[in-house]
Amino acid sequence: MIEQLEELKHKAFQELSGISDMKELEAWRVCYLGKKSELIKILRSLATLPLEERKMVGANANEVKANLENSLEQKKRSLQEAQLAVSAKEKHIDITLPGRPLPMGRLHPITQTLHEICDIFISMGFQVIEGPDVEWDYYNFEALNIPKEHPARDTMSTSWVDFQANDDDWQMLLRTHTTSVSARVAETMKTPIRVVEPGKVYRYEASDATHVPMFHQIDGLAVDEGITMAELKGTLYEFARRFFGKDRKVRFRCDYFPFVEPGVEMAIECQVCNGSGCRLCGNTGWIEILGAGMTHPKVLERGGIDPECYGSFAFGIGIERLPMLRYGIDDIRLFYSSDLRFLRQF
Ligand code: DAH
Repeated sequence: MIEQLEELKHKAFQELSGISDMKELEAWRVCYLGKKSELIKILRSLATLPLEERKMVGANANEVKANLENSLEQKKRSLQEAQLAVSAKEKHIDITLPGRPLPMGRLHPITQTLHEICDIFISMGFQVIEGPDVEWDYYNFEALNIPKEHPARDTMSTSWVDFQANDDDWQMLLRTHTTSVSARVAETMKTPIRVVEPGKVYRYEASDATHVPMFHQIDGLAVDEGITMAELKGTLYEFARRFFGKDRKVRFRCDYFPFVEPGVEMAIECQVCNGSGCRLCGNTGWIEILGAGMTHPKVLERGGIDPECYGSFAFGIGIERLPMLRYGIDDIRLFYSSDLRFLRQF
């Protein structure tokens, strides 16, 4: 029996060294270590042997079994490693290759400008609020001290929404200015109020180099005890200094808006001619960038704020003009023509 075991071991190892894949290895395992293998049969038959022989054959058979099992494990590992090396070579990934660049998106120049302006006002303690583009006549006009027959309505060519209301105040329109959001804020927010209101506005107008039917504004409203014109000027000076640079001169002049009293317009010194007069500024040396003023008492009252106790200022900035001035863009329609050659510059 010892001899039989020796022979078996010899044969098994010889065969094992010639094996080159997992399938063959499994067949080898079944043949030499499987339930029906010669070795297992010998181990099972041990009980029938006389004691002395049983000890010797048993020890020998168990050693052969352990040897075969060890070699099986080793072979398995070396086959797996070889397989891995082959697949790494065949399907290898060169991690040093540069990736394909993804096309970079960017924000529209108008959105960038709005963000920049909001950031300036946020740093001064203002909060950003948005209102609806489709608005009631009431918030766009009536609450802002622009009643039905007021000539100011004619200056804002309005797109009306086809909606049958019983009451004139509740006609719908596309808001003609973001000042409508101030009317809502005065009605709903608790004092003290410091808000800026960016968004789209609409005018029923044909397009040309300086007009488009949809453009952007940002309005501001501050309400607090003791607010005076000095706070309005200080706030807008600071905005102009931060947006246009500290050397750019700023000018306030009287102007009229129904929802403020007194009303002003703010202009900056023309960036092209530095104030000496050119085509861009119509030879005046100044470019108007916003309207502002002390909120009209009637507007505050409509919002439920007592004008005797609270001071308030408001302002409204046209957005498109600012990047036009900064980058020397002479046609407002470029912003909305979706021409990537233009938009990619910002
Ligand atoms: N809403 C005005 C416009 O569209 C601009 C404006 C002027 C807004 C004065 C204001 C303001 O808040 O105080 O022409």
